[in-house]
Amino acid sequence: MSGDQLRFDGRVVVVTGAGAGLGRTYALLFASRGAKVVVNDLGGGRHGDGKSSKAADDVVAEIKKAGGTAVADYNSVVEGEKVIQTALDNFGRVDVLINNAGILRDKSFARISDQDWDLIQAVHLKGAFKTSQAAFPIFKKQNYGRIINTTSNSGIYGNFGQANYSAAKAGLIGLTNTLAIEGSRNNIHCNCIAPTAASRLTEDILPPDIYNELKPELIAPVVAYLCHESCTENGSVIDSAAGWAGKVQTFRSSGALLRGSMSAGVTIENVRDNWSKVVEMGGAKHLSNIQECTLELMNSLEKLREGIGSKSTSQDSSSDETETFTYEEKDLILYALGVGASVTTEEELKFLYENHESFSPLPGYFVCPALTALYMSRLTTSAVPGKEISLERILHGEQYLEIVGDLKSSGTLHSKLSISEVLDKGSGALIVYQVDTYDEEGKLLFKNQIASFAVGSGNFGGPRTGTKLVPTAAKPTRNPDVSLQYKTSDDQAALYRLSGDFNPLHIDPNLSALGGYEKPILHGLCSFGISTRLIMGAFANYDTSLVKAIKCRFVKPVLPGQTLKVEMWRDGNRIHFETSVVETGQVCIAGAYVDLKEVKPSIRGNKMSGAGLESDAIFQFIIDKVKETPEKAKSVNGVFLYNITKDGKVVKQWTMDLKKPIVYEGPAKAGTTVQTTVTVSDADFVQMATGKLNPQAAFMKGKLKVTGNVMLAQKLGPLLQTEAKL
Ligand code: NAI
Repeated sequence: MSGDQLRFDGRVVVVTGAGAGLGRTYALLFASRGAKVVVNDLGGGRHGDGKSSKAADDVVAEIKKAGGTAVADYNSVVEGEKVIQTALDNFGRVDVLINNAGILRDKSFARISDQDWDLIQAVHLKGAFKTSQAAFPIFKKQNYGRIINTTSNSGIYGNFGQANYSAAKAGLIGLTNTLAIEGSRNNIHCNCIAPTAASRLTEDILPPDIYNELKPELIAPVVAYLCHESCTENGSVIDSAAGWAGKVQTFRSSGALLRGSMSAGVTIENVRDNWSKVVEMGGAKHLSNIQECTLELMNSLEKLREGIGSKSTSQDSSSDETETFTYEEKDLILYALGVGASVTTEEELKFLYENHESFSPLPGYFVCPALTALYMSRLTTSAVPGKEISLERILHGEQYLEIVGDLKSSGTLHSKLSISEVLDKGSGALIVYQVDTYDEEGKLLFKNQIASFAVGSGNFGGPRTGTKLVPTAAKPTRNPDVSLQYKTSDDQAALYRLSGDFNPLHIDPNLSALGGYEKPILHGLCSFGISTRLIMGAFANYDTSLVKAIKCRFVKPVLPGQTLKVEMWRDGNRIHFETSVVETGQVCIAGAYVDLKEVKPSIRGNKMSGAGLESDAIFQFIIDKVKETPEKAKSVNGVFLYNITKDGKVVKQWTMDLKKPIVYEGPAKAGTTVQTTVTVSDADFVQMATGKLNPQAAFMKGKLKVTGNVMLAQKLGPLLQTEAKL
């Protein structure tokens, strides 16, 4: 049997106040499992009066009689170093410390004397401090130690007549929390036990009928397990009684922002008006450390930044909320930059320059007012009956945007948010929000539908399928009509978030690490914005007034710096699209489409598309790579001219001057001598760059013509292969 037992052979355990009650049962149990035990007890009265060696001696005798090893110690825990010294003198080491000694001086608050106060703090709190202080360096040195502090439900909840005692017991929780943090690096674990047991301390407090059920022996195994080397628990408070044990934790509400912006102050009335939200515990959660607590605060402050703080939420009824959102030209420009619009694309200047004659918003921007309404909403936390929804565990599942009215370049909007349905998907709840946005005259401008997946909030007995969610559309089975790429920058999320989605998951490495990501992830709506911008280039000649609706489903996260490939299929006025990450091949947006009023393919769109030159995207990729690692490119030390052919004719030239290094469209600039000329078709070039066509084989088959310094071209091969691994 002993093979299955959790043993303490070779361990030295110090139990304070082990002459009676709980401490005695701890000492007996540890000794019965092989530990050498220091039985400490002052042997005084219940109120801390007097002293005697009898209590400790009796328990030592009991242990010895049962074949165990124990030694008595009669010091007060206030002199904790002496207690630990007894362990060292007798057994040469100490592994486990149970701070259990305690007394009571119960009085109603008004009657507590200084002495009543000081004595209680000294025995409980200072006693635990002194013994732990003496043991801690020994634990550290041997890289092992277990400490149990003894708190009480009086400390956790308060109890009439125990102000001195509950203050000391609550103090022990604070001590435990910090010792757990400071000790964890050295395998020192510190936990609290909150017992309820029959002892001389409780004989006149607990009702007689349950007193007999509360045997201290039923708690001792919980304490012993917490002290075993196999137990990883650290920094916890364990409530235990009558053969039951449970963990106690603090919870914090989602709270409320009390002011409209960073520059605004807080009035007492602001506090009053927000009070119900301050104390609403529906979405409350446990914060596991002070860093998480600070991050939460920073997150709240982020929401106050310009553009978010000027909005206010008012609740119309229990199921509808109205949110006001003000935007101006600068906001539209910031959004356009966030989704990759660039002045280098002539047609995109109108999204970036407020004095442009056709200055207009990208339609994707109009998801922002809906997202803000959702952020400020109180509806989410109570969306699933009987389930707490943690806002951090919500994923953006699907998005639908329908443009109904004219989109202006500035204005004040009013969004009405409601929950249309909540579906029970087992592993979580799918919450479908409807957000209808109106102008100041009350004219409906656009509608958003947001489907959010609340992980872990499923199995509430709700319907599995619904009727409200706008369906996604399967892509056609043929090859895409157009395929465009956009390489996101490392700062893409940092820029996009300024359009109003300040979730720190997209910027704070600590938080994204908590979420299990290698670095902060890109906003799904940023990939959505990039994809729809490219679609507008290819099929709407950048005329944003042609957009009627956009639908997409978010499948996988994207990391800033990755390249997005947007494949598009035209089906009448519907453009199906699917977006994937080039570097991983994983689809990130699926089942998606843009509905246009009419299709207007642009010359540029064709040029950028598969129907035109796909190799443009690869050269763009090479340009970025050369900029990123110029030394690597320079090591090739050559100048190349690429003739890209289509249907046998040269349709474009690119110069790769790796001596400088610089890559640009067109023939070599005056004064630059081309050393190697490569002639290849658009399609074969893409095949080679994506590793699907071996350059040697292409050369042998005559698909790749190289003139001039052929050896140099071979040097370039590996560079292109590794660098342009698309
Ligand atoms: P107990 O009175 O049976 O045992 C406490 C022991 O501590 C006594 O033998 C006493 O002589 C010893 N002691 C007192 N002051 C000391 C000092 N300065 N130095 C060394 N030893 C000293 O009480 P019980 O119920 O076993 O309590 C053990 C611990 O559990 C205490 O810290 C108590 O506050 C705590 N507790 C007990 C609860 C219960 O339901 N029994 C409820 C909540 C907490």
